[in-house]
Amino acid sequence: MSASISLFNSPEVTSPKIAILGAQGQLGRQFQSLKFSNLIPLGRSEADLTKPEALAERLEQLAPDLVINCGAYNLVDKAETETTACTAANTIGVMNLAQICKKINATFVTYSTDHVFCALPKTDQNGKPIPWTENDLPSPHSLYGASKTSGEFLARASWEKTYVIRTCGLFGIPGPGGKGGNFVEAILRAVANGRALRVVADQVCTPTSVTSLVEATIALLRHFPAGLYHLTDQGACSWHEFASEIVAQAGLSVEVTPISTADWPAAAKRPAYSVMGSIHSTDPLFPKLRPWQESLREYLANRPS
Ligand SMILES: NC(=O)c1ccc[n+]([C@@H]2O[C@H](COP(=O)([O-])OP(=O)(O)OC[C@H]3O[C@@H](n4cnc5c(N)ncnc54)[C@H](OP(=O)(O)O)[C@@H]3O)[C@@H](O)[C@H]2O)c1
Repeated sequence: MSASISLFNSPEVTSPKIAILGAQGQLGRQFQSLKFSNLIPLGRSEADLTKPEALAERLEQLAPDLVINCGAYNLVDKAETETTACTAANTIGVMNLAQICKKINATFVTYSTDHVFCALPKTDQNGKPIPWTENDLPSPHSLYGASKTSGEFLARASWEKTYVIRTCGLFGIPGPGGKGGNFVEAILRAVANGRALRVVADQVCTPTSVTSLVEATIALLRHFPAGLYHLTDQGACSWHEFASEIVAQAGLSVEVTPISTADWPAAAKRPAYSVMGSIHSTDPLFPKLRPWQESLREYLANRPS
């Protein structure tokens, strides 16, 4: 049976034609797996964010009702030196895509990141960190985070039917390209290769499965108007806690040593606390995702061994 989707912004469209960009990445592959009746998967060679004329021609010819952009320049550390490539896709590319969507009157969905929040954590009156919401001002401290922040603003300024969805720590069955994996696979690979696990314990966020995110995106498109939304699985953990849970759920008995950010030098600065909540969370129609541990359990049960 094929999945269905309906659009809050265009209720008259009953079986929208959907174009997925970045279709070979982990998120794009999850959309493809749902077997929508009218879905056109477009890999980078067919729809490149950095080639606006060819992209416009392709999309004008396809005339989709909905464009979902899962493509991005995602190499967080390399982005510090590959600034042009990073902004070409994440900033200018996303803006151009929004303008093309406006021209063809297609609802536009694009994804952003918790890396837009890199300032000191927001805290309650007891000094306890509290989640960032859509109302908090972005404070990126990396080129990747800045490229995504600017892309968010430019896309929304370009086309009113734009959904920007910020998410975090994605894991899904990896495609051949993209980042070439995810944190779960990296941990399992390290264990298989007998490498010691030393994992950062002072960066806290929310791992999120592509399965939950795709379901939540569909619910959002059905019930909410275009705008900026935070969608992550529930809960929070450090990368060390995430790695420990992967090891435990996979039934492995290896030690996971906690280290600090200072012990793991990286070109790009990462947020110390980038758990995201939503101003819409009390709305009964707003998608409520699963605890990240449940998503991990499902992922481990279904990943190809
Ligand atoms: N992964 C995370 O932890 C994470 C966290 C927060 C937010 N996000 C956001 O979530 C979205 C999906 O990420 P993901 O994890 O699915 O990424 P992914 O697995 O790395 O896939 C990204 C896809 O984008 C494609 N791509 C790269 N440059 C492109 C371009 N110029 N034009 C068109 N496509 C291009 C890649 O194509 P190739 O296969 O040719 O390389 C790849 O298939 C992205 O917007 C990302 O920024 C991800």
